[in-house]
Amino acid sequence: MVHYPAWDQDEARSIVSSLAHLEGATLPILHALQEEFGYVDPQAVPLIAEALNLSRADVHGTISFYHDFRTAPPPRKIVKLCRAEACQAQGCETLVEDLAREHGIVVDSHHGNQDAVVETVYCLGNCALGPSALVEGELIGRVDADRIAALCGARQ
Ligand code: FES
Repeated sequence: MVHYPAWDQDEARSIVSSLAHLEGATLPILHALQEEFGYVDPQAVPLIAEALNLSRADVHGTISFYHDFRTAPPPRKIVKLCRAEACQAQGCETLVEDLAREHGIVVDSHHGNQDAVVETVYCLGNCALGPSALVEGELIGRVDADRIAALCGARQ
């Protein structure tokens, strides 16, 4: 897993000012910040608002609208869950619903400070043994919601 430096407001400020001249600079700035630090700290909001002459609510709205932006440091663990056709036929969408209902784990939700997140992927090449998941390089077949929840909760 990639290790990012801790949030640094001065570094963030220089990233913001180096891109502020771009047309529609909000998204390039947010992407650059996330690339550098692994997430967009709430402290970035006033910096961006000031540099682009936007309201803080505008910047905040953009961050919330695009669910790819993390607002807290990246989780320690990412569980990739296959939701392609063969795994769908083997119940992965029910698994996704069960995860949310029974374990409070929302797939593809990057907001909040979580130890683990579950992300959608499309085909892990393990179609005969779906639903499939990939966790830290390990391919796991025939997963169910309980197994995924356990994988998310398991600390190493
Ligand atoms: S469709 Fe899920 S592993 Fe191929």
